[in-house]
Amino acid sequence: MANSDIHFPDDSCWNLDDDAAYLAWRRVKLDQASGLVEQSTPVVIGDMGALTSVERAALMARCAVSNGVLYREQTPTQDESSMSAKLRQFANALGLQIAEKHRSAGQDGVVALQVSESLRQKRYIPYSSKKMNWHTDGYYNAPDQKIRAMVLHCVRAANDGGVNQFLDNEIAYIRLRDENPDYIRALMHPQAMTIPANEEPDGDNRPASIGPVFAVDPLTDTLEMRYTARTRSIAWRDDAATRAAVDFLTGLLGSDDPLIQTVKMQAGTGILCNNSLHNRTGFDGDTPENSARLMMRVRFHNRISKD
Ligand SMILES: [Fe+2]
Repeated sequence: MANSDIHFPDDSCWNLDDDAAYLAWRRVKLDQASGLVEQSTPVVIGDMGALTSVERAALMARCAVSNGVLYREQTPTQDESSMSAKLRQFANALGLQIAEKHRSAGQDGVVALQVSESLRQKRYIPYSSKKMNWHTDGYYNAPDQKIRAMVLHCVRAANDGGVNQFLDNEIAYIRLRDENPDYIRALMHPQAMTIPANEEPDGDNRPASIGPVFAVDPLTDTLEMRYTARTRSIAWRDDAATRAAVDFLTGLLGSDDPLIQTVKMQAGTGILCNNSLHNRTGFDGDTPENSARLMMRVRFHNRISKD
C-alpha cells in the first residue's frame, strides 16, 4: 500500500509526500531533543500525590519535546499502597485518566512488576528477573485498547542489573525515514506485524493482533508505535521492504544512538512517557524472597496532555 493511501492533514510532517513539512518538524525536534538529553537530570517532585503547577509544567514541557520525562520524588514513598494511590493522582494531574484494565492490576489500576511465583504471572517475563527486549507496551492489544501513555516507577531497585533504556518513538521514526522513506511505508502497512493468538490455560484468550508498526492517530495527528523485538511468535509481513525496515530498526535499537537514554532507576525515580520504546536488562534474584526490585506501572489509553 502506498503512503498516499493513508490520509494525513495538510502540511502533516507524517506525510511521506511532503518533505518540506517533515524537514521543518525534524529540525526543531532534533534540536530540542538533543538539548534535553544533555540535561537529562530528573525533574524533582516534592509529593507525587500533590504536584505543584511548577512541577507539572516542567514535566509537560519535557514530554512535549521528547514524549517522556524522568522524575524523582524528593523523599521516596516506600509503602506500596500509598505509592499506588499517588501514581494515579500523579497521572490524573497530567491528564491521564483512562487506565487500562490489566489482569494483574491491583488498587488504582497499578501493576506491581516484581519477581512473582503466582500461577497467573510466573510464565511471563515481566514478572521474572530476565531481560526484556525492546518493545512498546500493549503491542498485542486490539486497536481500541492501545496503550498511549504510562508511568513506570521504581519503589526498590535491583542490587545488580535492572537497567532500562528508552527511545522516543518519533526519533526512531526519524532515523528510519532519513535512511529510507520506504522503511516507513513498509512499517505503516496495516499488516506489517502479526502477533498470533495467545491461549491461556485458564481460558483467558487473546486473539491474533495484526497491524502496523507506525500509525498516526487522526484525532491528535500524533505518531503511535506498536513494536516488539521478540523473534518467536511473531510474523512480519513477508516482503523485502518490511524485512529491510525491521533489520534497520533492530540495528538502531542495538546501537549507541545518542538519543537512546540508559538509566538505572533508583527508589523514588520513574519515567512518564507516551509509550516510548523501552527495554530492561536482567537483574539479580530469581524468587520473590531474594529479588529486591519492585517497579510499579500504570498505563493509559490517552496521551499526556499538552496543556
Ligand atoms: Fe514494557
